[in-house]
Amino acid sequence: MEIPSGVHDVLADPRTVIAGDRVQIPFELDRPLYEQVAKVLTEIGGRWDGRKKVRAHVFPFPVEAFMRACLATREFPSRFEQGWYPTPESVVDQMLAHAGVRDGMSVLEPSAGTGSIAGPAAESGGVVDCVEIDERRIRVLNGQGAARRVVHADFLDLDPLDCPHGYHRVLMNPPFSAAVQHVRHALGFLDDGGTLVAVLPESVMWHSDRATTEFRELVSLAEGTWAPLPDDAFAPSGTSVRTVLLVLDAAAGGPLPTHGWHQRQPRQLDLFAAT
Ligand SMILES: C[S@@+](CC[C@H](N)C(=O)[O-])C[C@H]1O[C@@H](n2cnc3c(N)ncnc32)[C@H](O)[C@@H]1O
Repeated sequence: MEIPSGVHDVLADPRTVIAGDRVQIPFELDRPLYEQVAKVLTEIGGRWDGRKKVRAHVFPFPVEAFMRACLATREFPSRFEQGWYPTPESVVDQMLAHAGVRDGMSVLEPSAGTGSIAGPAAESGGVVDCVEIDERRIRVLNGQGAARRVVHADFLDLDPLDCPHGYHRVLMNPPFSAAVQHVRHALGFLDDGGTLVAVLPESVMWHSDRATTEFRELVSLAEGTWAPLPDDAFAPSGTSVRTVLLVLDAAAGGPLPTHGWHQRQPRQLDLFAAT
C-alpha cells in the first residue's frame, strides 16, 4: 500500500524518532494528518501508547530497518501488492547460517524486494544478482549498490539457459502465493553442488494439491531439510503467517532440475537433427 505523501513527510522528518520498537512524533500535526499517520502506523502493526513517559506508536518488533525499507519505497506491505514481506533480520541470519556464503560465491536472489537478504549476502562476501518485478523496489536495490546486477523482470519469465552459469547459492523469500512455482523455477539457476535456501509458508508442508505434493516428493528425493521458524518470525513485517526454511543441496546427477540438468537436456531442434 502506498504511504500518502503527507504521511511520508512526517515519518521521514528528522525530528521523528524511529528507534527500537517505537515511532514517536514529537511535534504538532493537524488532526486530519495525524489521523492519516496513525492509520498507517496501526496498519503496519503499531499500537498507540499514550502514557506520558511513552507517547509513541509501539510495535511488537524492532521497527527501524523495516520503516527504512517502507520509506525508501514509499509503501508498506500489503498482501494485495505482490506479496512484499521483507525478511526480518533474525530469519536472514538463519538463512545465511544454512547457506554458508563465502567470499566470491555467486548468489541469486530472485524476488529481491528491498534487499533484506541480498544486502547481508553481499556483506558476507557473495557476488549477488537480484531479480525483482516491482519498479519501486528496483529503485531501492539500485540505490543500495550491494548487488552486482539488478534485473527488473518477472523471474518466472527468465529462462535458466539464458544464464551462462549456475549460482553457488540461491537465497529467496518468494511471494507466498506462488512459492512452490518460484522455488521450482529457481532450481534451474542453481549450480550442481550449490545450495538453495528458501523461506516458505508453512502450508507448503501440508497442502495436498498436485504441484505442492510433487514438490514435497522432490524435496524428499533430494534429501532436503525443512526447518520450522518461530510462529511470529514475520511479525516484524506485519504478518502472522507461519513459515519454514527449506534447504536443498544439489548434487551433480541428483534429482533436482538444476542449471546443469537443464544444460544436459537435449534441445528439441537437436533431437530433430539426429533423426
Ligand atoms: C515476500 S517478498 C520478499 C522480498 C525479499 N526477498 C526480502 O526478503 O525482503 C516477495 C518479493 O517478490 C517480488 N515478486 C513477486 N512476484 C515476482 C516475480 N514474478 N518475479 C520477481 N519478483 C517478484 C515482490 O515484489 C516482493 O518484493
